[in-house]
Amino acid sequence: MAAVKTIPTTPFSGQKPGTSGLRKKVKVFAQPHYLENFVQAVFDSIGDLGGKTLVVGGDGRYHNRTAIQTILKMAAASGFAKVMVGRGGILSTPAASCVIRKYKTFGGIILSASHNPGGPDEDFGIKYNIPAGGPAPEAITEAIYARTQEISSYKIIEAADVDLDTIGERGLGGMTVQVFDPVADYAELMESLFDFGAIRAAFAAGFRMKFDAMHAVTGPYATEILENRLGAPKGTVMNGVPLEDFGHGHPDPNLVHAHDLVEALTGAGAPDFGAASDGDGDRNMILGRDFYVTPSDSLAVLAANATLCPGYARGLKGIARSMPTSAAPDRVAAKLGIPAWETPTGWKFFGTLLDAGKATFCGEESFGTGSDHVREKDGLWAVLAWLNVLAVRKQSVADIVTAHWREYGRNVYSRHDYEGIDSAAAEGLMEHLRGLSLKGERLGTYTVAFNDDFAYTDPVDGSVSKKQGIRVVFEDGSRVVFRLSGTGTEGATLRVYIERFEPDATKHHLDPQVALADLITIARDLAQIEARTGRTEPTVIT
Ligand code: G6P
Ligand code: ZN
Repeated sequence: MAAVKTIPTTPFSGQKPGTSGLRKKVKVFAQPHYLENFVQAVFDSIGDLGGKTLVVGGDGRYHNRTAIQTILKMAAASGFAKVMVGRGGILSTPAASCVIRKYKTFGGIILSASHNPGGPDEDFGIKYNIPAGGPAPEAITEAIYARTQEISSYKIIEAADVDLDTIGERGLGGMTVQVFDPVADYAELMESLFDFGAIRAAFAAGFRMKFDAMHAVTGPYATEILENRLGAPKGTVMNGVPLEDFGHGHPDPNLVHAHDLVEALTGAGAPDFGAASDGDGDRNMILGRDFYVTPSDSLAVLAANATLCPGYARGLKGIARSMPTSAAPDRVAAKLGIPAWETPTGWKFFGTLLDAGKATFCGEESFGTGSDHVREKDGLWAVLAWLNVLAVRKQSVADIVTAHWREYGRNVYSRHDYEGIDSAAAEGLMEHLRGLSLKGERLGTYTVAFNDDFAYTDPVDGSVSKKQGIRVVFEDGSRVVFRLSGTGTEGATLRVYIERFEPDATKHHLDPQVALADLITIARDLAQIEARTGRTEPTVIT
């Protein structure tokens, strides 16, 4: 058996995991002992590892394989009985969550920096997910961080690298490494939730779609599920081979970065349906021919049609959305007579609601949609849910969404991002907004019902989260919301979310920038955006 070596080390500052784990440049992770310190801190913080099984995999970005070899040798030194690794080191974030739950493992380590670019000069990331399949809650990430600040050694075995490309079991020290098909379990779960027969029949009858994997992790998943199992024509999956640098792309499924897909869905000859997912497979964007579905509307439409999907035929227990997400899903919940939950931004806030059976579908305006089938948001799940609905209803994406608006009214919605602004100016702007007391004031044609800084008390565990975004809510339910991005890397990003409810179907076709023009001006003036940031226009509008 390989000897366990104890390597002396000293703490690195800043190894504090955020909501989505520790994210740094590859060059930071590649420093001697950097990854090792963090992994040892994880192992030291999660309890007794003896005899346990761990899942390991990542989105295939640069440094993935190197990191996995290190983690395997450290797991072997720390007493794990077995590590399950996706073949080639590949595991999408939702697939990792699926496998952790299915095999009841002692959680997993996911290597990803989500939608951030990859490559030697770009980003890398690592996070630990708990046995329930979701990201570690704050108590655990705090403990991991505290451990990184006092670490003085780590354990690793000396051994040759493990073959990650051949399915099967092999020994590593006293541990077993099981290389498994990263797609099979996930594909089987999807098959249990959606009407594959109806979708297969739609493709056979000429329904056409494009899925843009953006050279990221969903390529193999989408090819297997859409082309092999559902019979979509070869070539349905675009950019389907995962590349270490995502083909120099920015694997974020939005109208700006998924431009190949947007182009493919434009014009008379375009396919019926288009979708994209991000670096690690948890985000999604949904398009029809010449039609963009906002993530908020996507959640609402899927919830309204959930019973068409076999896995949800018995209905939903509740719908949860993050605060800045539009209230469109709440209208569906009201009609269905089920609870609508409003949580702070961040998928982790859905975990307790899902575990407690209080919600079945969840979603965020930041291109995240999912359900209680795993504990991460799930890009391909959303795509398959849409395919299921389209296959059964046999209508276009645009027809389904506009009919939804006619039935429920339209929550006209837009997000304006001001990226890379000065951090102090951004903080000052938020402080200024926090200090306003606007109740009863008239702004343009709107009267303010209330304004606050959103605070949330988790209905399951009672934990309280404060300062989650400034809301200015008007008497007719329209609102503007301001928050600073928690995921940006350079300076600060101010996000302004603008929403107005439009019951009048003759106005549903209007461009949101037009329909929301007065609220957009009110938001800019209220926050003194130009005076405080020097910006006259947002950098990104979605
Ligand atoms: C990540 C999280 C999401 C969250 C998003 C917010 O993607 O997984 O749950 O909605 O960040 O990003 P922001 O940049 O607006 O803080
Ligand atoms: Zn992601």
